[in-house]
Amino acid sequence: MVTHCRLRGLLLLLGAVAVAVAASHPANNEFCAATGGGGAGYGCGSGGGGDVARILIKGGTVVNAHRAEEADVYIEDGFVVAVRPNIPVGDDNVKVIDATGKYVMPGGIDPHTHLEMEFMGTVTIDDFFSGHAAALAGGTTMHIDFVIPVNGNLTAGLESYKQKAEKSAMDYGFHMAITKWNDDVSREMESMVKEHGINSFKFFMAYKGSLMVTDDLLLQGLQKCKSLGALAMVHAENGDAVAEGQQRMIDLGITGPEGHALSRPPVLEGEATARAIRLAKFVNTPLYVVHVMSIDAMEEIAKAKREGQRVIGEPVVSGLVLDDSWLWDPDFTIASKYVMSPPIREAGNNKALQAALSSGILQLVGTDHCTFNSTQKAFGFDDFRKIPNGVNGIEERMHIVWDSMVETGQISVTDYVRVTSTECAKIFNIYPRKGAILEGSDADIIILNPKRGFMVGAHTHHSRSNTNVYEGRKGKGMVEVTISRGRVVWEDGILNILPGSGRYIRTPPFGYLFDGIEKSDAAYRASLRAPVQRGRASA
Ligand code: URP
Ligand code: ZN
Ligand code: ZN
Repeated sequence: MVTHCRLRGLLLLLGAVAVAVAASHPANNEFCAATGGGGAGYGCGSGGGGDVARILIKGGTVVNAHRAEEADVYIEDGFVVAVRPNIPVGDDNVKVIDATGKYVMPGGIDPHTHLEMEFMGTVTIDDFFSGHAAALAGGTTMHIDFVIPVNGNLTAGLESYKQKAEKSAMDYGFHMAITKWNDDVSREMESMVKEHGINSFKFFMAYKGSLMVTDDLLLQGLQKCKSLGALAMVHAENGDAVAEGQQRMIDLGITGPEGHALSRPPVLEGEATARAIRLAKFVNTPLYVVHVMSIDAMEEIAKAKREGQRVIGEPVVSGLVLDDSWLWDPDFTIASKYVMSPPIREAGNNKALQAALSSGILQLVGTDHCTFNSTQKAFGFDDFRKIPNGVNGIEERMHIVWDSMVETGQISVTDYVRVTSTECAKIFNIYPRKGAILEGSDADIIILNPKRGFMVGAHTHHSRSNTNVYEGRKGKGMVEVTISRGRVVWEDGILNILPGSGRYIRTPPFGYLFDGIEKSDAAYRASLRAPVQRGRASA
């Protein structure tokens, strides 16, 4: 009940507005506070078990990335205490959840989101509360968001994101974007890693005139990342050529959303991906390529991996399952909601990215959740260059990856856990606290019923956006329960969440991708056949 009352009060204070209903529970699916704290009798907080400190999940198949087993899971005070068959029910103060016939898996971790981000003259419509509501309703229990510096200043950027995250309802971490270079930025990067728990920095090779970096900056940044044990991430598109391509479209009179796709073809993504990979090779540091959208980019990653380079490729849900035909829709509201960068590509790229994910060329799935409503998208009605770039996905990712990858037989259930949770935890060095159901892990857990269906729609999702790029999509596999740090936050279509309850998760440097880097540096130095001793020719 405490949760119920506190949530209602806080939400009124925050003025939170959320679309209330979630998939498959049309009559019983209210996001409790949004309609006046469950006034319609949805039982928010009470009876949902949200505040029960001890939970026993019985009879399910517990899936970790390394194995699946029939076992019960006992949770106490936010942690997994035991994972084994036939754990007896202790006393009445334990909430027992029957998971027979269902999968019990680590909550999803989304490596790529933009909540309340100032971008292209506006701000993304999901903040750290509505974004978290959407995430939890969809089975994601942690995400890593990108801090954008303020006028290039990292510390000011972090302060601003700390404030944004005060309303968080689940655990989150931060990456940091680097948008300019000088000695202060270099020093601040060190402080971000050593004092503030940030182990990854993103370099935008596109968005000329705002976030874009030069090759010189990228090179400095890669070297600094390496020295700090921080992972360099790139948005890989050739921003100069994109600007040229955009002008080309405008000169041709192509001003609508289709001009977005036409102005930045896959070759520009492939070129930048190749360039970033080669610069990372020159520096000998690991590289993470965000939102891989095209075969061109994916093949550059495959080639680098074949040659032994440490490159991580992240597809996003939109790239895996959508195609660019939507951008030609005659209805601007529909076409514009698919505008993101790099663009959603021609059909065929999606299937190739799925195959790359199933074969390990690409390693984990993000969303790039970056939502703008139809009013914001309409800023670019006369000029596609002004349509804010971004699509939704934080709520849909777990369902769509299950349906498109597991239900089609392309990946196993253990691989599902790997690509939606474990791999992210490992890359960002928070495994096995996150990304696993093991004794001592945080109790971030979902229960997925493979027999139930889901359907996506803007009228039922929890994002604040009035549109959804997966509108009308149906599939199999339904997240019925989400447990966030030992609290049941989503059950029977009811969200039971508390603004301010999320925790910042520090990500320590020198994750597994850095193992052995110093040895390969030493081998490289030993291989140099220089300096050559030369005597001066005698006169
Ligand atoms: O269109 C996109 N991807 N918007 C978010 C910013 C970014 O590039 O990641
Ligand atoms: Zn990007
Ligand atoms: Zn992004």
